[in-house]
Order: sequence, then C-alpha cells, then structure tokens
Amino acid sequence: MTDALYNKHVVVGITGGIAAYKIPDLVRRLRERGAEVRVVLTANATQFITPLTLQAVSGHTVHCDLLDPAAESGMGHIELARWADIVCVAPASANFLARLAHGFGDDLLTTLCLATTAQIVVAPAMNQQMWQNSRTQANLAILQQHSIAIIGPAIGDQACGDTGPGRLVDPADIVAQLADSLSARTLEGISVLITAGPTWEAIDPVRGLTNHSSGKMGYATAAAAANAGAKVTLISGPTALAPPAEVTLVPVTAAREMHGAVQDRIDHCDIFIAVAAVADYRPVRKARQKIKKNESRMTLELIRNPDILASVTARRNAPFTVGFAAETSDLKAHATHKLRRKRIDLIAANAVGDGIAFGSDTNALTLIDNNGAIEIGPAPKLELARTLIAEIAERYHAKASAQDS
Ligand code: C5P
Repeated sequence: MTDALYNKHVVVGITGGIAAYKIPDLVRRLRERGAEVRVVLTANATQFITPLTLQAVSGHTVHCDLLDPAAESGMGHIELARWADIVCVAPASANFLARLAHGFGDDLLTTLCLATTAQIVVAPAMNQQMWQNSRTQANLAILQQHSIAIIGPAIGDQACGDTGPGRLVDPADIVAQLADSLSARTLEGISVLITAGPTWEAIDPVRGLTNHSSGKMGYATAAAAANAGAKVTLISGPTALAPPAEVTLVPVTAAREMHGAVQDRIDHCDIFIAVAAVADYRPVRKARQKIKKNESRMTLELIRNPDILASVTARRNAPFTVGFAAETSDLKAHATHKLRRKRIDLIAANAVGDGIAFGSDTNALTLIDNNGAIEIGPAPKLELARTLIAEIAERYHAKASAQDS
C-alpha cells in the first residue's frame, strides 16, 4: 500500500515559539515518508531557528517574506497556496491562531492560509495559561468552524517551567495525523464500534482488579477510523486519554457494563473492533464497605465475565469483527487458534510484557485472517492505527461485495 504522504506537497509553516527547534525533525520525517516539503517562517520564527537549517533539511529555499520580489518571481504566496496538498503550521503560536481565526493577511504565512484550498492543520504550542485563556479557546472554536484541524497540544513540562497543556505534539505523531488527513476516506458512512482501555472489577468501594492497558491503541484506532470517514462510537474503560475529535465516547467501568454498552449498539454497526483488555474474571461479590485487614489470609472468589467479542461473533447478523490478541508467548499459534475459536474476521496480535505494547507510544501488530498473516509496524500507535484501518477497510469491502454477489 502506498504511503499517504508519498509525493504529497506539504507546506510547513513555523511561527515564533521555542518548539520551533523540533521542526527540522518534522521536516525530515515527512521527507522520509516521500513528501515534498516547502517551509515558510514568520519573522518571529527566525528568532528561534534559522532559515538555513530548514533549507538544509527540506532541500529547498525557505520562504520568509510576503513582499520579497525575488520570492514572488519564483514561488510566491499564491503559488505556494496552490502547490500545497496540505498546510501544517507547527508550532502555531497564540498570536498566529488569533490572526488566522480573524482572517488576517499581514505576512506570508497568513496570506498563504487565506489563499489555499488545501486542508490547514495547526499544532499549537504555548504556555499552558495562554492555551487555557478564554480568548485563545474562542479563537480555536472559530478555526474549527472553518474546518482547520488542530493537533494537540500535548500535556506536560514546558520550557517556561510550567506544567500543563501547551506542549507541541511529538513530530512523529504530527506526521501520523497529517497522513491521516491525506489518506482516502475508506470508511465513509460506515458505522464502527470500538472497545478500548482496561476494565475495573470492584472488590470493595476502593479496590478493584484491572490491568496495564492505557487505551492508547484503541483511541488511536478510533481516531484513524473517524479520519477514514467512519461514524465511530468508542466504548472505553477508565483511561487518562481525551476522546479523539468526532468520536462518540461511551465511558464504562466494569466488563459487564462494557458488554451491555456493546449489546445496546451492535445492531447498528458495520464493523466491531475489540481492542479493550477486558477482565476475564470479576469478584463474585463486591463488599459494600472497605474490607478491613482483620485476617492474615483472605480468599477472593472470582467468576467468569462475559466474552464480549465471542458474544458479538455468535450473533446471526454479526458485523465484520476484529479482535485483538495480546500474547506473551507463541503469538501466531495462539492468535490463529483464537481466530477460529471465536470466528473472528481479523485478528490483530501483539506481543506484550516487559514494557512492550501496554502504555507505550509505539507498537507492532501481526494481522491474521483466513488468508494468512502480515506484519505491520513497529510504528507510533497513530500511524499503526491508520494502517490497521486501511487493512480492515479493504477486507470489510471485499467481504461485503462477496456477500452481495
Ligand atoms: O480470548 P482473549 O480474551 O485473549 O481475546 C482477546 C480479545 O477478546 C480482545 O480483542 C478483547 O478485546 C476481547 N475480549 C472481549 N471480552 C472479554 C475478553 C476479551 O471482548 N471478556
């Protein structure tokens, strides 16, 4: 399958912020994926990074001025605006977001944004207080109304010493999201139901049984499906993640609750993707009060939870079903066995344990169906999810047309 970025024209706009130092890495990654890149710097950006650096990594003259006769005779703002398949502004400062929201055209980058019909994507980076300021938030709402995509910001330590939302999203993830924006809408109008995250099986009001699932792979899969044009419902156990844009989130806690939420919606979905790490067992009883440590030993009696995935494939009109298999040994053999036993259309198997897969930002998957196995990744989870969705879409459409004929 061709990379969504291959031969694509990407204008990278850089505005004045300390995160500008990360952009040569972004440009390098885009070119590695086959994209052609032209860089535009605002006047403030040149205080943080030199045009020469970006010229070296992009392989082309960098554009800084709107009214530069030399530039206008070559690739001026209108040519750049027409040339672009996508415009990515990273880092996007609060000032730039405000000017973009209000239609300013007082420098090369804002003018180019006004003149282009390409998708504009902004990756904001700023102090957390500036990000949370109601005026910045109001500007973002305007940008969203104008179909400008917003990537991030990430939460964490900031250059100014603060901690909070405002960090530039990792260049690898920006690249993955740009690829998403450019990829074909292979699931346009298709309903996709996804389970994600761990479940929590209460022992008493303060304790419970759970696992290491962070929900990242499920949320990335939901984001990729939405980007491919699907109507996505994400049924999620407890995670620390924000739901992706344009995805309906149904938060649940225990496996039985997740099962109920799936049953309520399964009749209306075309594709079901079970990514959640569902607890196989729950305590027989949940103590009403916190259990006291009176005894030197205690026994916890467990009972099987419903197998959500198996309950879906057992239905007469089961949707196209994808199951995940997290294995610590004999990955392929166990996954193939699961494919047959649960009558799943496609298994995405990953090796877990020793810090692999759970909680990490990268992953690798073996996709297994009745026709054999293929490997995808290792790659950032968002990128991997995009490939996974493309593979699912191909198989879903093939199965649907085989059933029609
Ligand atoms: O058989 P095993 O539990 O390893 O299968 C894993 C797959 O089944 C995952 O896709 C997981 O989301 C799903 N599953 C489920 N309900 C359960 C247990 C697992 O849907 N109770």
